[in-house]
Amino acid sequence: MYREMQRAVPGLDAMYRLVQALVTSHTGDAPHVLVVGAGSGREIEALDGCNVVGRITAIDPSARNLDTARDTAGALGASLDVRFVVGTTNDIPDGEAFDVVTSLLVMHHLRDDGTKFAYLKGLRDRLAPGGRLIHADVCFDEIDDFDRLVPMYLAHADIVGVSADAARLELNAIPQLPVISERRTRALFAEAGLTEPFEIFRSLWYRCWTSSRAPQ
Ligand SMILES: C[S@@+](CC[C@H](N)C(=O)[O-])C[C@H]1O[C@@H](n2cnc3c(N)ncnc32)[C@H](O)[C@@H]1O
Repeated sequence: MYREMQRAVPGLDAMYRLVQALVTSHTGDAPHVLVVGAGSGREIEALDGCNVVGRITAIDPSARNLDTARDTAGALGASLDVRFVVGTTNDIPDGEAFDVVTSLLVMHHLRDDGTKFAYLKGLRDRLAPGGRLIHADVCFDEIDDFDRLVPMYLAHADIVGVSADAARLELNAIPQLPVISERRTRALFAEAGLTEPFEIFRSLWYRCWTSSRAPQ
């Protein structure tokens, strides 16, 4: 159902292909990748197409979701070296740093009461020098902006044959999320010691940026 909901968003699958392209184009041999909020395993699926990727560490505080990611990896065969960790960035052993950190569609679930900041700081602290963060979130300035996009979303869902029930699930869920504006996102990145996010993907209320550790 989660994937069906995602299919209703025009081009969202391309965001995962971009992750593959960014990892492939990352300088350095066999980059070590941290997948934060591995959930259903979509990033792992995307990384399966990279012939340059090194070890992958996939984390998620939900053991159930991580099991889904594990099943996804298992179905891909033995080509990827994936370590699964139930938890957050705090549960990764001290001193481990990653060439690429992905954070796709996780932070919009976290409250802006210091939790989003702590999350971003955790990502920043896990980036190796020269490492790249790929971060995607639901993002809009005001709920009116979301409302204006809804008819396009529903029409697109219909065109691609997504059921009305699946399409509605997304519409019911988004207004309940602690979504923040792009301006607030940029301020949190700066506070957490990350460089200005660079937008690489946008469709309806979904955005994806790259960033790295800001110089101290
Ligand atoms: C909407 S899913 C996204 C899954 C996947 N990244 C994708 O793009 O399909 C969000 C995932 O983030 C996980 N999550 C929630 N809070 C988290 C945190 N603080 N750190 C890491 N993952 C978290 C949830 O358990 C869930 O599996």
